[in-house]
Amino acid sequence: MEPYRTLRLRIYGNGPGKVTDICGMAETAQSLRIIVTGGAGFIGSHTVVALVEAGYEPVIVDDLRNSKASVLDGLERILGRRVEFHAVDCGNAAAMAPVFERPVHGVIHFAADKAVGESVAHPEQYFANNIGATAQLTDMLRERGIAHLVFSSSCTVYGEASALPVDENTPVKPAASPYGFTKQACESLLRYSHAAADGQLGVALLRYFNPIGAHPSAEIGELPLGTPANLVPFLTQSVAGIRGELTVHGDDYPTPDGTCIRDYLHVVDLAEAHVAALQWLERHPGSLDVFNLGTGEGSSVKQVLQAFEEATGRPVPHRMGPRRAGDVTAIYADATKAADVLGWSTKRSLQQCLADAWRWQEKLGG
Ligand code: NAD
Ligand code: WQD
Repeated sequence: MEPYRTLRLRIYGNGPGKVTDICGMAETAQSLRIIVTGGAGFIGSHTVVALVEAGYEPVIVDDLRNSKASVLDGLERILGRRVEFHAVDCGNAAAMAPVFERPVHGVIHFAADKAVGESVAHPEQYFANNIGATAQLTDMLRERGIAHLVFSSSCTVYGEASALPVDENTPVKPAASPYGFTKQACESLLRYSHAAADGQLGVALLRYFNPIGAHPSAEIGELPLGTPANLVPFLTQSVAGIRGELTVHGDDYPTPDGTCIRDYLHVVDLAEAHVAALQWLERHPGSLDVFNLGTGEGSSVKQVLQAFEEATGRPVPHRMGPRRAGDVTAIYADATKAADVLGWSTKRSLQQCLADAWRWQEKLGG
């Protein structure tokens, strides 16, 4: 793949957030540094690519607790150059000090623990890392007057929604897991921090639905450590022969084919939404808003299996099993707010998601 070469010139206006873009300028352009916590992870690494493509200078902060340094090599092969990387805990102020030595334009905060089942077994870890590190990091931003913060929230905050599709006004339900609670708590924390910052901190709370797929180059993708709990990584590992057959968790739900419905979106589409959110914050400094990020369409587990077979020509070894505790029957986004306000919507189909996920799995090998 041709490395990214065209940069954007951005000229600071009167203070943070006042930025003018002049596209198409040569490499003398001044780039804006964006800290990407969790930037070696699944969504973060794809967002690093999207940021460079948009002319920003991503700075990865990731202590690699759930990722590998080899992600940086994949990024280098896509981008044609190395991205600044700090292997530190983003909640550790002392360790983070060098990251702030040069000016920082904004932060995209992905870093968190994300396994629902693990959060039930180790709630302390989830409270400490997901909530604690977010509080520490937000404090670091406010101390330095950094004006833009994009936060990774989740559709899990809606629980079993009373009406579908869910828009941003759908009530948040009591959390079904410690993980879900940490996302709700961080949203609340950031609302309080935003209010306390009195117009000096803009916040975009992004509620992701189900991100899947991989970069089409197959240089980066999802790297689950251990047995995947999520559908698509288990599916691709099962087809690759790494796992046994896939168990469909329940086919007796009140849905057309009896299996659960989710809103699966391509991780590259999701990555691009972060750039759109950052640019929205630049246009509306000091704002706070929440956005659903999904395709707006629900797909059942059986539909995902069928789409995979159509996209790759590979049968998925599977069997029907009982329901999985904690699963909601159906959830998919009303994503019109993201389209109207951020100018973002998904472009990639479910089949493309699954073809890219499979290309990544083939690259990883069996
Ligand atoms: P991931 O585990 O692949 O990436 C998270 C990265 O953060 C990892 O590389 C990990 O090493 C790093 N990390 C964790 N704690 C850290 C800390 N304190 N300091 C520095 N690095 C740290 O996860 P992902 O799928 O890319 O998810 C990113 C974010 O999106 C998370 O906040 C997650 O909760 C949220 N989210 C994910 C999904 C999903 O289905 N993947 C859905 C909704 C929301
Ligand atoms: C999707 C569907 C399963 C595995 C999780 C988190 C959520 C969010 C996204 C972070 C469900 C079924 C799965 C398998 C199956 N993450 N399934 N067999 O549960 O919608 O959401 O990731 O915020 O918080 O809970 O995603 O990929 O685990 O499941 O039948 O082996 O696939 O029952 O219906 P989920 P998932």
